[in-house]
Parts: sequence; structure tokens; C-alpha cells
Amino acid sequence: MHVQENFSLQNYNTFGIEAQAKRFAEFRDIAELRQLLQAYPHEPKLILGGGSNLLFTQDFAGLVLKNSILGISQVADNQDFVVLKVGAGENWHQFVLHCLANHWAGVENLSLIPGLVGASPMQNIGAYGVEVKEVIESVEALAIADGSLRVFSNAECKFGYRESIFKNELKNQYIITHVHFRLAKQPNFKVSYGDIQKTLQDLHIQELTIQAVSQAVCQIRQSKLPNPAELGNAGSFFKNPEIPTAQFEKLKTQFPTIPSYPINAQIIKIPAGWLIEQAGWKGKRSGNIGVHDKQALVIVNYGGGKGLEIKQLAQQIQTSVREKFGIELKPEVNFI
Ligand code: FAD
Ligand code: EPU
Repeated sequence: MHVQENFSLQNYNTFGIEAQAKRFAEFRDIAELRQLLQAYPHEPKLILGGGSNLLFTQDFAGLVLKNSILGISQVADNQDFVVLKVGAGENWHQFVLHCLANHWAGVENLSLIPGLVGASPMQNIGAYGVEVKEVIESVEALAIADGSLRVFSNAECKFGYRESIFKNELKNQYIITHVHFRLAKQPNFKVSYGDIQKTLQDLHIQELTIQAVSQAVCQIRQSKLPNPAELGNAGSFFKNPEIPTAQFEKLKTQFPTIPSYPINAQIIKIPAGWLIEQAGWKGKRSGNIGVHDKQALVIVNYGGGKGLEIKQLAQQIQTSVREKFGIELKPEVNFI
């Protein structure tokens, strides 16, 4: 456990933005984490996973704590389910592969999401018709204020679309150390979302398995989302807006092709990528940054882009979508 000073975070965020941490340390267990918190009680803290949902707009004048708690253990097992306790520092996709190899179902649609297990409850990661809240049994977290441990049940996490209690009421108060997942031994396939069926056909899949679903999801993702190792990005920059049905009906008269996903009788979700593309931003480049040419919801850093430039571009996109559609886009990415 080594505390480094004036530490470059460029390789620790998938946007590849250069920013300095005043101090940086990795922790591998709860004892190390408590020691670090006690050593720097008055410094601002930033918990870092894989840095795939962060935008550094400035240096961080405090202690960056990189989560490296590893380990996967089985805490329950019966004929229907297995419950796993997973260290928050485990890589998310490696964990998905571990489940696939053991024929444990529930996370196959969430294949290839970057980042670490500990961040998965933060925004209740979701993709291709599944959200992680469907497989989370509980979350173990450590209070920054006094180092005490607390177990949050699924209900206590207050999961919503890209939301949880950890992003809201308890923001910056807890460090997630372990997540307990309940995985099924009999899969309940979810293949109705988007292009999954078509991709399964293209792949000539004869028998539907969780491995096949994962393969299809990986193929779709690779066709539109840039690989951060090649092009800096943080996935969807904004959330998909949810608007009242009455507002949607009005918009539809003006924009008859507007895509929509009903949430319930009152609320409709609109894909932000469509709004941004219609506002003319898709594939637009401004210096070292721009809007991805295959997915307008993704802002990219071609290299050397600054966090503040990305923030400004995001604001310009918000303004033009507001002016054209009267819809407010809210960032999904966490600004530092
Ligand atoms: P970080 O970026 O390191 O942290 C994110 C936030 O969580 C920060 O506020 C951080 O302080 C906090 N945090 C992290 N770990 C902890 C912890 N242990 N305890 C307390 N707070 C913590 N997301 C989706 O939901 N669905 C997608 O399909 C998806 N696709 C993506 C595709 C690409 C190419 C990229 C780059 C990103 C994508 N994302 C997606 C976003 C991102 O991968 C997820 O939000 C992921 O869970 C972030 O994990 P991380 O470890 O990188 O978190
Ligand atoms: N669209 C466009 N133009 C674009 C992009 C999208 O018109 O440039 C429209 C199309 O109508 C398309 C629809 O938007 O059918 C949906 O696009 P896509 O399937 O690519 O998904 P998304 O809504 O843009 C969401 C999540 C992703 C997740 C995918 C798959 C949010 C904010 N984003 O994207 O999550 O992987 O669905 O489930 O909910 C992330 O959170 O970082 C992320 C990548």
C-alpha cells in the first residue's frame, strides 16, 4: 500500500484525459482501505474503479483510492441458484466470463461493459434489456466517515434507470467493497431487445445458450461502441431522457419518425442518440474531440482532448437538443 503524490490519472480513465491526483493509492482489502482513510481524514476522496464513467475536468486535489479488492466466493448454492460474493476490484467482463464458464445465468446480456464489479451498483449498469439490479442480492460498503461496514439489501440500494442510492442520497459517503450476485442455474433468456435475434441468426446459432447471447451482445457492441483502448470515450455520455406521454404525442406530430420506448402509460423513453443525430452532431469533430460517427450518444477523445473541452461540447449538444426538441439531456458520466 504505497501512497504516490502528483500522480497522473491519464491511464486510469477511459477518456484518456490528463489530470493529476494530489495523492493516489490502491487498496486490496478492507484493512488497507481503513488505514488509508485514517491517514488522510481531511482530504477529499475519489473512489476509482476502471475510470470508464468519469470525466476529469480538473486535477483532483485529494486522495484517489483505487479499488483492487479481488476474490470470488460462493456463499450459497442450491438446485436453482448460486450466490456469489465478488470483490469490488474484479473486472466486470472477466466476472461475466467466469459466470458463463460455470453455466450461471443472469449477466450474459451485460457482457463487455467496461469497468469493475464495485461500480456496477453505482449506476445500476444496464444493456440489452437487462439491468444489474436483477441479479444483485446485496451490496457491502464501508462508510468513509467512520470505517464501519454496512450491508445494503437490493431494496435499500434504491435502484432505478442508471441510478442508485450511492449516486444520490449517499453520494461520496460509502465505498463498495463486495457485491453479492444471485445467478440462476436455468437461464431465463432475454433476447427481444434491439438486434439480438437478428445477430443470433447472422451467427448461425442453432441452440440458444447464455454463451450465444453473450457472443451476440459482444458482436453488436463492437459494431457501434468504440474500444477505449483505441479511442477515448466513456460509453453513453447522456442518459436516455424520459418524458411525459403528452409531450411525446406533441413531438410526434412535428417529428413523425421519433423512436420511443414506453416505460408506462405516463412516461416514454426517447433515445438520446437519435435526438443528438437529428440535431446534426453525429460524426462532428472539433479539434481533438468529437461525436462518434457510429453512435451519436458517445463523445470521443481522438487524443490530447481536455476534460473542459468535452464538458463544453456536451453543453453545446444539450443546448441544441433543448432548442430543437424542448428536451433536457442529463449526463450519465460523472464529472470530477
Ligand atoms: P468508474 O468510472 O471508476 O467510477 C464511476 C463512478 O462510481 C465514480 O463516481 C466513482 O467514484 C464511483 N465508484 C466506482 N467504484 C466505486 C466503489 N467501489 N465504491 C463507491 N463508488 C465507486 N454502462 C452501462 O450501464 N451500460 C453499458 O452498456 C455501458 N457501456 C459502456 C461502453 C463503453 C465503451 C464505456 C467506456 C463505458 C460504458 N458504460 C456502460 C459505462 C461504464 O462502463 C459503467 O458505468 C461502469 O460500471 C463503470 O465502472 P468503473 O469501474 O469504470 O467506474
Ligand atoms: N440512435 C440514433 N442514432 C445514433 C444512435 C442511436 O438514431 O447515432 C437511435 C436508434 O433509433 C437506435 C436507438 O437510438 O435504435 C438506440 O440506440 P442503441 O441501441 O445504440 O442504444 P442507446 O439507447 O443509445 C443504451 C444504453 C447503452 C447500452 C445500450 C444497449 C443509455 C444511456 N445507454 O444506448 O449503455 O449499451 O442501450 O442496451 O441507456 C452506457 O450506459 O454507457 C451505455 C453504452
